[in-house]
Amino acid sequence: MAPVKTLKYLAQEKTLESSFIRDVSERPKVAYNNFSNEIPIISLAGIDDVDGLRIETCNKIVEACENWGIFQIVDHGVDQKLISEMTRLAKGFFDLPPEEKLRFDLSGGKKGGFIVSSHLQGEPVRDWREMMIYFSYPIKQRDYSRWPNKPEGWKEVTEQYSEKLMSLSCKLLEVLSEAMGLEKEALTKACVDMDQKLVINNYPKCPQPDLTLGLKRHTDPGTITLLLQDQVGGLQATRDNGKTWITVKPIEGAFVVNIGDHGHYLSNGRFKNADHQAVVNSNYSRLSIATFQNPAPDATVYPLKIRDGEKSVMEEPITFAEMYRRKMSKDLEIARMKKLGKEEKELRNLEKAKLEPKPLNEILA
Ligand code: OGA
Ligand code: NI
Repeated sequence: MAPVKTLKYLAQEKTLESSFIRDVSERPKVAYNNFSNEIPIISLAGIDDVDGLRIETCNKIVEACENWGIFQIVDHGVDQKLISEMTRLAKGFFDLPPEEKLRFDLSGGKKGGFIVSSHLQGEPVRDWREMMIYFSYPIKQRDYSRWPNKPEGWKEVTEQYSEKLMSLSCKLLEVLSEAMGLEKEALTKACVDMDQKLVINNYPKCPQPDLTLGLKRHTDPGTITLLLQDQVGGLQATRDNGKTWITVKPIEGAFVVNIGDHGHYLSNGRFKNADHQAVVNSNYSRLSIATFQNPAPDATVYPLKIRDGEKSVMEEPITFAEMYRRKMSKDLEIARMKKLGKEEKELRNLEKAKLEPKPLNEILA
């Protein structure tokens, strides 16, 4: 088998390898550094202050979930030192020589590890990213052999980071549960035993960033996602089905929060599962750390509350595993149709070229 080429290696080429080139309709419309202030930035400073700022802060969060499904939080209480340590270690991991990273190669059905450019099996176009994935909750499922052991200190720092982000996520889910008129723990309870998965995304410099995406348009499958990004920029969101995109402005030490499909279904569509993507650029490599809070695989997915006059957005209760399976097969189907569409277009162009009368000099040539 040919050795796996890391993206850093491919980034040295002048042109983009064709497996990364996206259809014109999917290519970036807005630059990685054309920042927008449109998505809300919410300070959590007074969130525990029941007689003070809590109500106001909660209203802001709920409104952001209803309008966008994506927003940024500052003053969230996670120690900035811990955040910078986590970032330093993540950068350090991607700077390791390829053979060190490939020791954690995820192929072969392993749970967690390193992947050079994710692509769903059968997907025709690849994303311009490398990632390191590992599972942090439930604790009994932690497999430390799949966690990097370099750079030094990884395990300790990551454990702390995971714990802090788990409690921050639960705090946000409490706010959303209350907004639905339910008890505080309703959303976390609906997750049964909440899973947490960390994905460290590394988007190397790209020779032709206008032709590709770091991560194609998607919604996250889980309940809620907290993303830490560096100052480069590249995360984009749309709320009009891809017609217009905004680039989320990086804020030092902030988390970008977004609602996933599970959160969307449980709220009966009230909270948006934000459509988002990541674009790349030729000037800088970019790092982001996504913390996905997901329900247990056998947790039931169905609206927790259906408001008067509303219909359920789901036909029947299903498990999260089933919801995920359906999502993946739908994504694959769309990708396949796109590929077929592309091939058909190419075929038609070929036929057309055959039918068009050729200029005399070509026939004689
Ligand atoms: C993700 C994601 C965006 C980014 O990992 O699901 O949306 O900017 N990442 O890395
Ligand atoms: Ni995402």
